[in-house]
Amino acid sequence: MTTYARITGTGGYLPEKVLTNHDLERMVDTSHDWIVERTGIHERHIAAEGETTCDLAEHAARRALEAAGRKPSEVDLIVVATTTPDRVFPSTACLVQQRLDIHGCPAFDVQAVCTGFIYALGIADKFIRTGSARCALVIGAETLSRIVDWTDRSTCVLFGDGAGAVVLEASETPGILSSHLHCDGKYESLLTVPVGVSSGLEKLRSGEATIRMKGNEVFKVAVNTLGRIVDETLAANGLQREDVDWLVPHQANIRIINATARKLDLPPERVVITVDRHGNTSAASVPLALDVAVRDGRIRRGETLLMEAFGGGFTWGSVLAVF
Ligand code: UT7
Repeated sequence: MTTYARITGTGGYLPEKVLTNHDLERMVDTSHDWIVERTGIHERHIAAEGETTCDLAEHAARRALEAAGRKPSEVDLIVVATTTPDRVFPSTACLVQQRLDIHGCPAFDVQAVCTGFIYALGIADKFIRTGSARCALVIGAETLSRIVDWTDRSTCVLFGDGAGAVVLEASETPGILSSHLHCDGKYESLLTVPVGVSSGLEKLRSGEATIRMKGNEVFKVAVNTLGRIVDETLAANGLQREDVDWLVPHQANIRIINATARKLDLPPERVVITVDRHGNTSAASVPLALDVAVRDGRIRRGETLLMEAFGGGFTWGSVLAVF
């Protein structure tokens, strides 16, 4: 009997503070119309002072557990995808584990920037399929506002904070059908925070560690690469485009999302779009979008979802799942 990993609950959390495009007009030389036309973003949420990635992750995780009808004590694996961890160490997953009063199960972070949640889901799927876990908490959580250069109009209009989570459980019925994870480090300089612990630590200390992106170049590679991942995912499962009920994409830019939807020949009502409400929340964006469409009743049990993402690295990937 094949064991599948099945999403049994979803949760999302956005910090209270909302930063609109009109607010940004007062900070940099930009306009609401430009931002909406070029990105589809209307507003983003910003974590309060002292509110951390772990705080956001905990809210999303509790909501996902509640939706799955599971208690924290039943969780036997925690994977947190984040690029903005609370600390150098321990990992944010360890901190989330402590918050949930869970003891002993493996807990670790995954760093694949905007593709982080897809990586985390792919990893957790393998734990469950091989019998190493039966109930996993998979979280994408970010406080990107802390690494945004708020004087750079080409990047500061794009990003926001948030968290999304799923509970993934062993099941005899599908389930995740396949996951496809990729990276090509030759593109590292096109989208980066070019400092870290072992290089440029002084910049990290003085708050100069901010996102640098060659947006236009990233855009072109993203569109082409996500087109290819659609083909790869369908071919691996012997499926046609019409077999996919929902596209749940990384929420970076409405134009990138629409290009992938066209590739799948999916009508707009079959594409989950939340980028207007929270901008690019990196690893949080796919589970946030999934949670919205599950809770409002659009995505139903038995439907097939294609989740995909593209981000710094470059990393990219997809997960095809029956919900
Ligand atoms: O999540 C991981 C991956 N990240 C992404 O997927 C982001 C990918 N990139 C993008 O989404 C788009 O490239 C952006 C939204 C970042 C930019 O859109 P674009 O259509 O590629 O614009 P551009 O960079 O080619 O800039 C066009 C013009 C420039 O002015 P000139 O040189 O034509 O006079 C920019 O200076 O738009 C200007 N511009 C702005 N104008 C008003 C750039 N940012 C802004 C702004 N407001 N915020």
